[in-house]
Amino acid sequence: MSEHTVTITDNKTGKQLELPVRQSTQGPCAVDIGRFYREMGFFTYDPGFLSTASCQSALTYLDGEQGMLMYRGYPIEQLAERSNFLEVAYMMLNSELPDRQQLDEFTDIITCHSMLNETLNRLFNGFHHDAHPMAIMVGVVGSLSAFYHDSTDINNLDHREIAAHRLIAKMPTIAAASYKHSIGEPQVYPDNSLSYTGNLLHMMFSVPCENYEVDPIAEKALDLIFILHMDHEQNASTSTVRLAGSSHANPFACIASGIAALWGPAHGGANEAVLNMLNEIGDVSNVPRFIARAKDKSDSFRLMGFGHRVYKNYDPRARIIREMCHEVLAKLGDGNDPLFELALRLEEIALNDEYFIARKLYPNVDFYSGLIYRALGIPANMFTVMFAIARTVGWVAQWQEMIGEDNQRIGRPRQLYVGPIRRDYVEISQR
Ligand code: CMC
Repeated sequence: MSEHTVTITDNKTGKQLELPVRQSTQGPCAVDIGRFYREMGFFTYDPGFLSTASCQSALTYLDGEQGMLMYRGYPIEQLAERSNFLEVAYMMLNSELPDRQQLDEFTDIITCHSMLNETLNRLFNGFHHDAHPMAIMVGVVGSLSAFYHDSTDINNLDHREIAAHRLIAKMPTIAAASYKHSIGEPQVYPDNSLSYTGNLLHMMFSVPCENYEVDPIAEKALDLIFILHMDHEQNASTSTVRLAGSSHANPFACIASGIAALWGPAHGGANEAVLNMLNEIGDVSNVPRFIARAKDKSDSFRLMGFGHRVYKNYDPRARIIREMCHEVLAKLGDGNDPLFELALRLEEIALNDEYFIARKLYPNVDFYSGLIYRALGIPANMFTVMFAIARTVGWVAQWQEMIGEDNQRIGRPRQLYVGPIRRDYVEISQR
């Protein structure tokens, strides 16, 4: 059978170019346009990457029309129900699920890397007391490269692996320290007898003068949310990590750039924005007014937690997390959280509204995650930080995958220039 190709014709000159189609294992194939500019003299134009695959990857597959998400071929529903965060993390980094010994070793490694260099611990005090924890995260994670010189050589496999482990291990410690700084409480050191999420809760909520018991429901809920948030193929923050990494910047700097990209309300910042929005709506009786605002093109208001660039069907993560949300609120809340009631009403109205139906705007994962975090006592400005902890695994795995490629090249998009054509400088006295 002949190779699959696509032929492009320039209807001005009649010139044709036959381009190879790269085969995927699942989902759309991709026309390889690498030769396009050289042969035809055009760039391709695709702002927002609506039709452009920026890389090839064996990590995550999602089908937006079907509402399907898989990590290395495993459906997210199975991982959410039967696995745990560190096991999935191992699988993302090492391609296959671990056996018992591999999982124990990996868990030990991540656990024993949880402490921060003591000088780095002091860095937090340099931030203003009301700094947003995401601002602290960007700064502190970037500064890891100033402390761990023995893991910044990206050409050294061992360095890459240690950096990956350190980032995954230290992220909860940095997140909790950012939180403690913002509320004026002393930092709490990690307790390596606890699980990954149990330790995070311990570092966030225990104080030196009292005993703290990790709530197993909270620990399980966080573990589940972290699995759901672990990776999502080439989203804005992951693409940022890959682009930064393509220049051979060190891994800590790359992950810091991912955290910065995640912060925006159109991306990871949406979970915080959802809660702010629900508070702003305030009461079920106000829902129709806000729905009307979301539909009004002259109003910049959008329903936060609704819509997705890729999912044009129910976000599978939202389906899983919605159930967890009910469970957590029933067990930890009084079961009658007015914001949850409000969220459900909003969801119901939006799902039956012609505007949202026509545009295939469904609730996304962030619509519910904020409600769970809230029930766990996690403040809104920490929501995106939680997302960053989980997504670190995906960022690191994607970064590893890219650096390990045979023909890895620096990412360097082209542009359609629409500025002034050549003109001469005019002296200021003559302008
Ligand atoms: N509320 C009201 N209208 C919306 C919304 C919304 N949340 N989202 C999209 N639309 C409309 C939009 O106005 C446009 O309408 P029209 O065709 O009449 O001009 C149409 O739907 C398509 O929207 P788009 O902006 O072209 O879609 P996009 O793929 O560029 O944006 C999005 C995707 C997620 C940025 C957007 O849906 C949005 O801003 N949602 C709210 C923020 C949010 O929840 N973000 C979290 C995303 S999931 C987690 C993550 O990725 O981190």
